[in-house]
Amino acid sequence: MSERTKVTVQRLQEMKQKGEKITMITAYDYPTGVFVDQAGMDIVLVGDSLGMTLLGWNTTLPVTMEDMIPHARAVVRGCKSGFVLGDMPYMTYQPSIADAVRNAGRFMAEAATDGIKLEGGIAVADRVEAIVKSGIPVMGHLGLTPQSMSALGGFKAQARGAATAKRLYDDCMALQDAGAFSILLECVPARVAGVIARKCEIPIISIGAGVECDGQLLIFHDCFGLYPNFTPKFAKVYGNAGEVILNGLRTYVDEVQRGAFPEPKHSFSIPEDEFRQFEEMVK
Ligand code: KIV
Repeated sequence: MSERTKVTVQRLQEMKQKGEKITMITAYDYPTGVFVDQAGMDIVLVGDSLGMTLLGWNTTLPVTMEDMIPHARAVVRGCKSGFVLGDMPYMTYQPSIADAVRNAGRFMAEAATDGIKLEGGIAVADRVEAIVKSGIPVMGHLGLTPQSMSALGGFKAQARGAATAKRLYDDCMALQDAGAFSILLECVPARVAGVIARKCEIPIISIGAGVECDGQLLIFHDCFGLYPNFTPKFAKVYGNAGEVILNGLRTYVDEVQRGAFPEPKHSFSIPEDEFRQFEEMVK
């Protein structure tokens, strides 16, 4: 199998210009990093969604840099060609520009990610500019931004009126002017996202923002039935690994209880004479 060349910011920009769709997914560990790389994913996000999908919190707010770094390191080890992004947890960039640069730098220095993602528009444009100036590629994240779920009033589509759509557009332009290499739009009407994608020079990625964007993101656990609590409207299930795992576990429990597992082929043998000697020894 021929090695894919490493995806870069320049390659993603070229894909936008040529109208080639960009593929993006979340990953939180080494085997998933290997799988998504083998599938040819362009961008791999080590999302703070791991707080919900892996750690069982109801929101992403309790996630810390200490939670994120080991997962980012594991994904980077598995993912050789995809462009890996570390997701900045809640309150690691909001308090100050210095916090933003320091924590973005931790992803690069401690996990060797290719860049970072953070939520917000005009309000965080100064953070984005400072991080970019320190040499770190930044993806913005607008629309339904999970770290502001409380202020947004819950899990619902954003920018559904002319004024809020215009505000979203202004936020996108602010991020682009601040040097973001791409923007993720979450739960935004497809037509609004389409206009923004055509107006912006940088790639606009959709998660629930329709087909007119330059690329698509899905959450790995939503794609494979691995998050039992909730499947968002925008998610498509490509295979039910959760069901496969549950059926396998039930069969395992049943086989152990019935003495059907392990079989001789799962056990180790001892030469007959050694075994007889051993039996003598413990008589
Ligand atoms: O953390 C994450 O996976 C994300 C997506 C919900 C966009 O930010």
